[in-house]
Amino acid sequence: MPQREHWGTRIGLILAMAGNAVGLGNFLRFPTQAAQNGGGVFMIPYMISLLLIAIPLMWVEWGMGRYGGVRGHGTTPAIFGLLWKNRLSRYIGILGLFVPFVVACYYVYIESWTLGYAFFALSGKLPKVSAEMVTSSEAYLEPFKKFLLHYTGMGAADLYHPSLAAYIFFLLTMLLNYAILVRGISGGIERFAKVAMPILFGLAILLMIRVITLETPHGSAVDGLNFLWRPDWSQLGNPKVWLAAAGQVFFTLSLGFGAIITYASYLKRNDDLTLSALTASSLNEFAEIVLGGSIAIPAAAAFFGVAAAQMIAASGAFNLAFVSLPAIFANLPAGWLLGFFWFILLFFAGITSSVAITQPVIAFLEDEFGLSRRKAVTATMLALFLLAHFAILLPKALDEMDFWAGTFFVVVFALCEVTIFFWGFNPSAAWREINRGGLIKLPRIFFFIMRYVTPFFLLIITGWWLFKELPKYLQETSPTIWVTRLLLVGIFLGFGVLVYISGRKEKGHER
Ligand code: ALA
Repeated sequence: MPQREHWGTRIGLILAMAGNAVGLGNFLRFPTQAAQNGGGVFMIPYMISLLLIAIPLMWVEWGMGRYGGVRGHGTTPAIFGLLWKNRLSRYIGILGLFVPFVVACYYVYIESWTLGYAFFALSGKLPKVSAEMVTSSEAYLEPFKKFLLHYTGMGAADLYHPSLAAYIFFLLTMLLNYAILVRGISGGIERFAKVAMPILFGLAILLMIRVITLETPHGSAVDGLNFLWRPDWSQLGNPKVWLAAAGQVFFTLSLGFGAIITYASYLKRNDDLTLSALTASSLNEFAEIVLGGSIAIPAAAAFFGVAAAQMIAASGAFNLAFVSLPAIFANLPAGWLLGFFWFILLFFAGITSSVAITQPVIAFLEDEFGLSRRKAVTATMLALFLLAHFAILLPKALDEMDFWAGTFFVVVFALCEVTIFFWGFNPSAAWREINRGGLIKLPRIFFFIMRYVTPFFLLIITGWWLFKELPKYLQETSPTIWVTRLLLVGIFLGFGVLVYISGRKEKGHER
């Protein structure tokens, strides 16, 4: 068995894992979700999901990953096969390739917008507006909306027409991801995270301080914080709010993406896992609740007033990032620099996550087919490059991919993970595996949570999706949606064939 790579240092591992988690979700998805789902009340299901689903799953994913890595495998087809001796287990593991790969196909593209916008902010190419124009937020935001529409070309109904700049920045972003990934785990991903994560936190703290001190005739950032955190108790019993909170916790921690498992597969047999996983998750939660909650929405409230901020939050994460924030910064002293900081912050948040979700397929090709790192990275990035064109060009493809891979299958996959580890495998051995080498010993109660409570909650969420949400999505039947669905089936089957071949190879070796 060829020697697998390892992380160089514990701090590097924690920063890489935190980079895996901290992403566009923290700064854009979280504040919009909280604002749309009951404000302060959102944090109750959020915290419960964090404690009963996310943190236990985090340890499960780290534990499974290290277990597989020690045995030469970093992805779930092989790891599930090792843990649960059943013909199905390898094929369930396909989800651990499908989910991150499909998410990467659109994630890298959105990430490339942040790089493009950082360049435009720095070179003064973003629209110019003056404070007198703030008579209505709609009119004030209009030039920025037009700019985004022109940049992405996402107005057309037949085929999107991205601008040349959007395409060039997409290529550049692909190349940067390639450059990091091809240097390997400790030489590429870890080294980059050690530089990018401190910069990311520094920029976010800087922007937070600037926003918190904002005061205009329309409002202040404190009004925004009040709006974001005032609990709307009537929403506590609303299942939609609970689902949104659980979904956000998944997305932000990259759970059910297969990416944590693969990163954890580069741990050594007795490396600490319990404390490291908790530290990386805490860093993510700090970036999400403290920093993510204190930039975009409070800035919008200070600038346009609370009522407009509410509308902006409802108009979604993209509008917040690429329309409202640059429009606000455009009117502040040194606004070009603040705009640049904002987009570079998003870019670093994005790229540390995109390398993480690209890594599983690379690891699969290396571990199961013996490809060299360079060949595995090149093949994966080429496939990613080609398939990303569906998100770039095909109307609604991006949303459809996000629904299936980024929302539905993450939950299904997480359910499979915890059931295979704590039911298909031996539960006591799973518990020992998680605790081995741990710098803290997990309270025994988590054993019961992982074995019973987490699967139970995940089952309820999956059931809810299947019966309530899925029928709504299936009603969408435009041709481009069907093309995307066929594409997704094709990607799944493609991985299925590769998993089948790798299974035959493995059997051949065993004989
Ligand atoms: N966890 C990543 C994010 O928050 C995917 O964007």
